[in-house]
Amino acid sequence: MQRAEVVAKTSRFIKEKFAQDSTGHDWWHMHRVWQLAVRIAKQEKAGNLFVIELAALLHDIADFKFHGGDVEKGPKAARQWLQSLRVKEEIIAQVEDIIRHISFKGAGVKQELKTIEGQIVHDADKLDALGAIGIARVFSFSGAHGRAIFDPAETAVLHTTLEGYIANTNSAITHFYEKLLLLKDRMYTNTGKKMARRRHEFMEEFLKQFYKEWEGKL
Ligand code: ADP
Ligand code: NI
Repeated sequence: MQRAEVVAKTSRFIKEKFAQDSTGHDWWHMHRVWQLAVRIAKQEKAGNLFVIELAALLHDIADFKFHGGDVEKGPKAARQWLQSLRVKEEIIAQVEDIIRHISFKGAGVKQELKTIEGQIVHDADKLDALGAIGIARVFSFSGAHGRAIFDPAETAVLHTTLEGYIANTNSAITHFYEKLLLLKDRMYTNTGKKMARRRHEFMEEFLKQFYKEWEGKL
């Protein structure tokens, strides 16, 4: 099968699989990450585009957060799909490895994306957690999981274990401090860093306005 056909089939597969999601991990998240990853790769003139496209499309195929913390579920599901399309083992292994390491697992948990392909898909995924879209997604996720918009009594926790991070049920606003505002300093590529800075500023602006309105000052 041609590479373009593998990518097209994968995008159709993911589109169908995620058509119904309401946690912010819907088809359009995969679509944006896919397009953004391609854009970053072109800008940086780096990485194997086939690996990048497949990893971007498949990166949330079976996220551990929705599968009892099992970090191997995603890589396995991606492998199964790619094997069904007879993709070469060398490519499958790279895609699997990216999916295994891409997720944010707590502020104090070390990230391990060693290849340029992994770094590009990581940056694309994290950019989609920032800016206006990032704000929309955090409230969508929080609502879907029965969490509050904001609880002024809460303090943010910088988790040092994946288990602690997953067990956390803090409000949407607190999630900014536990993850979203930390992302700009965790980007790998120059393009990712630059885009993250702009999206970060927009979130800071949003939070300022939010607190003013919370206190009825504006
Ligand atoms: P990653 O892309 O690093 O795997 P996640 O899938 O954990 O990130 O999160 C994607 C988005 O879902 C986050 O950027 C955020 O908007 C939302 N989200 C994840 N965890 C939480 C949480 N505990 N509270 C609120 N929103 C969350
Ligand atoms: Ni994602």
